[in-house]
Parts: sequence; structure tokens; C-alpha cells
Amino acid sequence: MKPNLRKYAAGLLRPAFLKGRLGALVGKTVEEWGLRLAYAGKVSRWLQENPLEPQFDSRYELYSHVIDSADLRGPITYLEFGVATGRSIAWWVDNNAHKDSALYGFDCFTGLPEEWYWHPKGTFDQGGATPDIDDKRVTWVKGYFQNTLQSFIRSHDLDRRLVVHLDADLFTSTHFVLGSLAPYLKPNDIIIFDEFTRLTDATHEFRAFHDFVTAYGMQFSVLGASGGYVQVAMRVDATACA
Ligand SMILES: C[S@@+](CC[C@H](N)C(=O)[O-])C[C@H]1O[C@@H](n2cnc3c(N)ncnc32)[C@H](O)[C@@H]1O
Repeated sequence: MKPNLRKYAAGLLRPAFLKGRLGALVGKTVEEWGLRLAYAGKVSRWLQENPLEPQFDSRYELYSHVIDSADLRGPITYLEFGVATGRSIAWWVDNNAHKDSALYGFDCFTGLPEEWYWHPKGTFDQGGATPDIDDKRVTWVKGYFQNTLQSFIRSHDLDRRLVVHLDADLFTSTHFVLGSLAPYLKPNDIIIFDEFTRLTDATHEFRAFHDFVTAYGMQFSVLGASGGYVQVAMRVDATACA
């Protein structure tokens, strides 16, 4: 566009831009589909560059592979974001027997703070009750991540091998956790996504991961996946742009 024409078009658009008319014109549905379309392109390119291999039939087979291939039988600090009834953290309690491991389950235990697809706000509500797991190595961190994680970080040592399990489903929750943990992630730490992407929508966990990597310049490699592209395990390779 020629500079004069651009100036003229900007003059026409600016009032609509500043007074919310552009927002009203575009509308939330178009915004949502635009976002979906944008991340469909990004996830498709990312998957081409990062093949999700090897593949497993269940997430528990994937976890076993991660334990073997990343040598996770020693002491680990396991941080799970999104616990609900405790099915996934129970697996890790049973399968990392090291007495010095510490496992932390973060959840409000009142369900999803926002709607997620057809699941309304409050889905997975446990009435505030924590899972019945009898192991001294496990600690529940109850509340919204946005209210608990920063003070947890200030009062805990995160120097040990970290396994971060992200199962909060939502973009907002996942993005907050990744950004908060960014300064503490180190090479060989593990990140597992439980709902990395869907065929029709990559605007939750994948979007959180993509935006996080873009902002922090970290490098990861894929350790494996299950359900095609649903659960994905990654290893931190480098913590800043090479
Ligand atoms: C899919 S469920 C977790 C399932 C569990 N990992 C399992 O394998 O059975 C998602 C959980 O994330 C929690 N959650 C999502 N966002 C949260 C947030 N910002 N703060 C606290 N909890 C959150 C919800 O309360 C819900 O229990």
C-alpha cells in the first residue's frame, strides 16, 4: 500500500479501533475461529518439525517409557498441575519408589476455573477434597495456581530433577505455570502435557507451550506421545536461545 493511502486508511480505521467498533464488527466467534485457524497452522508446522515418536497406546505406557529413557528412578521433584481425583499422580507415586522423591499436587479441587470446550466451569469439581493417597512424599497445594505457585516457588528448592506434569487443560492455567517455572527449568527436566492438542483446536496446551517457547527461547525434544498427539512428553534441552 502506498504511504498516502496507508495514512488515509489508518485515519479511517483509528476511531473504530479505539472505540471498540472494530471489536464489535469482528465479534467473538470470528476472533475464536481466527485464533483456532492461526494455531492450526502453527501446530501443524510444529508437528512436522517435531515428530511425536515413539507412540504408545496409553498415557501410562508413555510415563513408563519416560521413566526408562530419561532415567527417572532416582529422587525427583514431581509437580502435577491439575490433580482432580488423583489418577495420574497416584501412578507416579507407585512408579517412583525413591524415598527422597517429593510429589506435589496442585489443584483448587473445585474444578476448572473457566469453561473448556463443552465442559462448563467447575468440571472435575471434587468439592474441595484432596485424593486419598497415603504416602508421606505427597503434598497437596490447594488453590488456584495463580494464588499458590509463586509462594510455593519461594519456599521450595527446585534444584533437583523436575518432572512437570501439566494436566489443567486450559491455556490460561498452563501458560501461567510455564511462565512461573521458566527460571527454574534446567536441561534434562521433563515436561508432560496431558492434552497437548486436538485435531480441530490447538488453542489450549499447545498454544501455551508455543507462546512460552517463543517468549523464553527454551529448547525441548520430544520423548514420546500417546493417543497420537494428546499426551506428549518432552525433555528440556536448553534454557535460552542458542
Ligand atoms: C483434567 S483434570 C486433572 C486430571 C488428573 N490429572 C487425572 O489424571 O485424573 C484438570 C484439573 O485442573 C484443575 N485446574 C485447572 N486450572 C486450574 C487453576 N488455574 N488452578 C487450580 N486448579 C486448576 C481443575 O480443578 C481440575 O481438577
